[in-house]
Amino acid sequence: MSDTSASEQPTQPEGPGLESSDRPAGAPARKIFIKTYGCQMNVYDSARMADVMAPNGYAEVETPEEADFILLNTCHIREKAAEKVYSELGRLRRLKEERAAKGERLMIGVAGCVAQAEGEEMRRRAPAVDLVVGPQTYHRLPEYVARLDNGSPGIVETEFPVEAKFESLPMAEKRKTLARGATAFLTVQEGCDKFCAFCVVPYTRGGEYSRPVTRLLGEAEALAQAGVREVTLLGQNVNAYHGEDDAGRDTTLGGLIRRLAEIPGLERIRYTTSHPRDMDDELIAAHAEVDKLMPYLHLPVQAGSDRILKAMNRKHTAESYLRLIERIRAARPDIAMSGDFIVGFPGETEEDFQATLDLVSEVKYAQAYSFKYSPRPGTPAATEEDQLAEEVKSERLQRLQALLNEQQLAFNRACAGRVMPVLFDRRGRGDAQLVGRSPYLQSVHVDEAPEELFGRLAEVVIDEGHANSLRGRIVEKAVQTA
Ligand code: 5AD
Ligand code: SF4
Repeated sequence: MSDTSASEQPTQPEGPGLESSDRPAGAPARKIFIKTYGCQMNVYDSARMADVMAPNGYAEVETPEEADFILLNTCHIREKAAEKVYSELGRLRRLKEERAAKGERLMIGVAGCVAQAEGEEMRRRAPAVDLVVGPQTYHRLPEYVARLDNGSPGIVETEFPVEAKFESLPMAEKRKTLARGATAFLTVQEGCDKFCAFCVVPYTRGGEYSRPVTRLLGEAEALAQAGVREVTLLGQNVNAYHGEDDAGRDTTLGGLIRRLAEIPGLERIRYTTSHPRDMDDELIAAHAEVDKLMPYLHLPVQAGSDRILKAMNRKHTAESYLRLIERIRAARPDIAMSGDFIVGFPGETEEDFQATLDLVSEVKYAQAYSFKYSPRPGTPAATEEDQLAEEVKSERLQRLQALLNEQQLAFNRACAGRVMPVLFDRRGRGDAQLVGRSPYLQSVHVDEAPEELFGRLAEVVIDEGHANSLRGRIVEKAVQTA
């Protein structure tokens, strides 16, 4: 990773005066369509890409057909990611040709982790692509677009000047695109130094970088003022967060959460995704002491066999993971545990897989994600010789998912009869149904919910727990002032 950009001038000026209506008089309004693939980090990045383009006269539109600039914000974490992007680019090439036949110009850009991984190759395989930009330089989008407008034949930018990106983006007050509802993402950390043997993230997103505390407080305050009640702190390895505060002191995620909890109007704080090795005492204490920190923890373990964990370079054992969960549960007994699992890692035996099932049985997850191992080019595990047959992986995944689904249903059913605060952030089916999130991140459906509860918290009595959601009734309206 290069740090040469620390001294670079931001291309995007900060501060007031960046409304889209501030573009030079007479400049035509152009339209950008951003398609987001993959993780929440990409959802956040896409919103910031829209933010950065707005002052340059680009309004966001909902379909590719309306756009002058189509940007695919891609994800590379799992199987066939690059192939999916190439087939989408095939469709877009036809759209571009149709436009060209009418004398119109359509710009096509690819951002995110597939762009980072493919680099120059992307323009060779898909010449219709004008711009390839990795996840670390999208703050320079306006500059790239200006260069394309001025006749540049195509741009590939996959450097890692991570320090410049976030702090070169428009200031928090200008974050209109993210403050659309009661919940918002806030990227606090990016990149990863862990190098799990199966994972592309350290290669596509680069090394760990934490944003300064003051910037994050400013952004969170602006979100709260715009009506956001719940913020989810994002990072590939979010609990490795180590940001500087205004006095230059190192602040951990637990410390950051305590500062964020002081912001009026912000009612709930979540964070994802964490590594077991970085779950420190301060963060565990925050779970015991900070009411606004929600009792839900996504803590991937990946596998239950120590032999496989070692081969995965996970830096923890099954036992150390289980002891860690004991400590977390001692701090916050009702915490809902979530995780990620990979089945069929190279060399995984039936006995190894059984150890994963045993670990799951012991932890009792409220919710989890599970995947078949798929080789990612450039990662150490991809070149291991003892790759497993697809049928074996599929069969193991089915068994694991049956167990995880059983646990999720049991967790949801056990909520029946309880009263819990629900933050309503979606409209459901029918006229008066609202859907919100419980503290444990379950979707809660309420029929006949008063419209004024949209965007707010209310106490709900849970009547039923189902496989993927809860159903309940309002018991008491929370009176809130913004
Ligand atoms: N194959 C399957 N699953 C993977 N993940 C990451 N890389 C791979 C891979 N090569 C899963 C891990 C990770 C989640 C985000 O995606 O479980 O925690
Ligand atoms: Fe990938 Fe997470 Fe491992 Fe980092 S800790 S290498 S992001 S799986």
